Amino acid sequence: MSRPTAAVAAELARAAIPHRRDEPLARHTTLGVGGPVPLFVEPRSSDEARVAVAILGDADLPYRVLGAGSNLLAADSGLDFAVVATAGLAPLPTFDGVRISVGAGVFLPRLAREAARNGLTGLEFAIGVPGSVGGAIRMNAGAWGSDMARVVKSVAGIDRHSGELGEQALAPGFSYRRSGIGPETIVTTVVFSLANDDPGVILATIERLLDERRATQPTASRSAGCAFKNPPGDSAGRLVDQAGLKGLRHGDAVVSERHANFVLNRGGATARDVFTLIADVKARVRDKVGVELEEEIVMWRGES
Ligand code: EPU
Repeated sequence: MSRPTAAVAAELARAAIPHRRDEPLARHTTLGVGGPVPLFVEPRSSDEARVAVAILGDADLPYRVLGAGSNLLAADSGLDFAVVATAGLAPLPTFDGVRISVGAGVFLPRLAREAARNGLTGLEFAIGVPGSVGGAIRMNAGAWGSDMARVVKSVAGIDRHSGELGEQALAPGFSYRRSGIGPETIVTTVVFSLANDDPGVILATIERLLDERRATQPTASRSAGCAFKNPPGDSAGRLVDQAGLKGLRHGDAVVSERHANFVLNRGGATARDVFTLIADVKARVRDKVGVELEEEIVMWRGES
C-alpha cells in the first residue's frame, strides 16, 4: 500500500522541495489536455530530484517523469501517480572543446542555437524538436535524418531502484525513437560530443531547417508533434494523407491539413477526443493502406 499523498507532500515540504497537489497536466503539455495528478514535484537540482525520488520510493508511490510535455498525451482523469517535472534541472550548457554538458530541463532548440553560436555542429536537427533535453534523450528524438543517439556522449540520471546513476552508469540503449531509459528514470545531465564548424554556416542551416519546418508542419497550432512513428522505409504522415484522413475530427481534436502525422487541439479538445481520433486514424490506415501504425506520442492513460 502506498502512503497517502498528504503525508508524502508533507515530507516534500520538510525537504523544501517544490510541489503541488492535484495539478492539471493540461497546464504542462503542448497539446493542452490532461487531468490532474495527485502530486506534481518540481525539483530545482539533481540533489532535490534524488531526495524527491527517495521520498516517493519510501512511500511506495509510483511516479512518471515530465520534460517539456511536447510529446505527451495524458488522460482527462484517473492519473493516480506522481509526476516529477524536470524543467528546473536546468544548469546552462558548459563547453569543453567539442563537448557540451547541459541540464535535462533545458529547451532543446535553445541548446541547438547555443551550440551553433559556439561553432559546434551536429545539433542543428534539434532546432525542430521542441522538447527538453531529457525528454529528447528518453525518446531518442530526431528530425532531418539525425537523432540524439548520434550526438550523445553520456547521460547521468536518477533511478527509483538504483538511485544516482553517474555518467557512465546509464546506458541509453538507443534505437529509432526509443531508448533503454525507463519511465521512472530521471535524466539529470547530458554530455554531447559535436564537431567544429563555422558558426555562420551552422546558423544558416538552422534558419533553413526552421523555414522548412514552418512550411511543412503546423508549428503554430497546439499538438504533441508527430503522433505516429514512421514505419520502416515509409512516412506515417504520407500514409495518413494517402488514406484521406486530413481534417478528420473527433470533438476539437483534428488531423492537421498541413501534415497528416500531427493531431491538433483546435481549442477545447479533451484527452478522450485525442485518444479517439488516434484510434480512428490507426483503424482507417489499417483498413485502407494495410499498415499498422504505432504511436510515437507517449500516452499516460488513467485508471478510470
Ligand atoms: N507527406 C505527405 N503528406 C503529409 C505529410 C508528409 O505526403 O501530410 C510526405 C512528404 O511529402 C514527404 C514524406 O511524407 O514525401 C515525409 O514527410 P516529412 O519530410 O514531413 O517527414 P516525416 O517523415 O513525416 C519526420 C519526423 C518528424 C521530423 C521530420 C523532419 C517521424 C515520425 N517524423 O517526419 O519528427 O520533424 O521528419 O525531418 O520520425 C516528431 O518526431 O515528432 C516529428 C515531427
